[in-house]
Amino acid sequence: MNEPLVLGIETSCDETGVGLVRGQTLLVDAVASSVEEHARFGGVVPEVASRAHLEAMVPTIERACTEAGVRLSDVDAVAVTSGPGLAGALLVGVAAAKALAVALDRPIYGVNHLAAHVAVDVVEHGPLPEPTMGLLVSGGHSNLLLLPDVTHDIRSLGATIDDAAGEAFDKVARLLGLPFPGGPHIDRAAREGGQVVIDFPRGLTSGRDLERHRFDYSFSGLKTAVARWVQARRDSGEPVPVADVAASFQEAVVDVLTRKAVMACREHGVEDLLIGGGVAANTRLRSLAQERCDAAGIRLRVPRPGLCTDNGAMVAALGAEMVLKGRDASRLDLPADSSQPVSQVSA
Ligand code: KG4
Ligand code: ZN
Repeated sequence: MNEPLVLGIETSCDETGVGLVRGQTLLVDAVASSVEEHARFGGVVPEVASRAHLEAMVPTIERACTEAGVRLSDVDAVAVTSGPGLAGALLVGVAAAKALAVALDRPIYGVNHLAAHVAVDVVEHGPLPEPTMGLLVSGGHSNLLLLPDVTHDIRSLGATIDDAAGEAFDKVARLLGLPFPGGPHIDRAAREGGQVVIDFPRGLTSGRDLERHRFDYSFSGLKTAVARWVQARRDSGEPVPVADVAASFQEAVVDVLTRKAVMACREHGVEDLLIGGGVAANTRLRSLAQERCDAAGIRLRVPRPGLCTDNGAMVAALGAEMVLKGRDASRLDLPADSSQPVSQVSA
């Protein structure tokens, strides 16, 4: 098949994403988010997310087709996030994708959300070098991935042993009285006047930790250190310098993320690093990664911020790569797997 047209559906968390990719070209990326419905709870409420997906699904598919100027009958294959993610939210996307695949009589590809976060960069920066090193940082995950082939061979070198990077951003934001999701607010506060003045801990970077957890991350100690620091300020009646705390916390996170990513590239002889997931939208992570990759002679790829957070284009992009590489489609009874391991690219 030449230049397959793939429709991708993403519903693993609070974004209903529908993307259309032809070959390696992005035609449209339509996203409907329920984030505002969750904000007052300070986190995503699964039941609310599922209901929002159900309501947004058909209108978002219609919007995607209209904007791209294609009919559903033009679609060659349907791709959908089968996991990992919120079980009920995933079910809505998987059920919708199955309905489309049956109605259109087209193959269905149930794909891994984390692999899709990496594969999306194909539509922005072209084919992925093989191997590529992936640093995947989102609200639910922080992984270092060796990617000989994003369509079927992904090896996890390390992951967070407690909080995910995005989760840490969200929790620290809450502590500072910033809205949910906190990542973009910390990013902005740090940019607008934050000085890196507080020396917060860098998790799993001591000599012994590097032996046992070479490519793993840990952010819960950092979160606790920030909480203690802020509380001490409040107890002594002094104002909390929000921008400074935000900048110092952010620096501690991105320092460890980039340090271990560059180390992994060096030790595995990989010359290309790709950063994906919602936290890859972070301004400081992007600039420090660029600095360190330049110094180490590593080529860096980071999708534009809109493609880093959850979207349907990433699922369509991975689906199209699977079609182009002749990978098997999934069975029509494919499950939604809320804890699908990162090494399992397709369902
Ligand atoms: O990939 P994503 O949209 O959803 C998951 O798969 O989890 O990532 C969402 C996470 C949230 O924790 C959010 O706070 C974080 O990405 N995030 C950021 C930024 N934009 C989003 N974190 C730091 N800086 C940002 N600019
Ligand atoms: Zn994600």
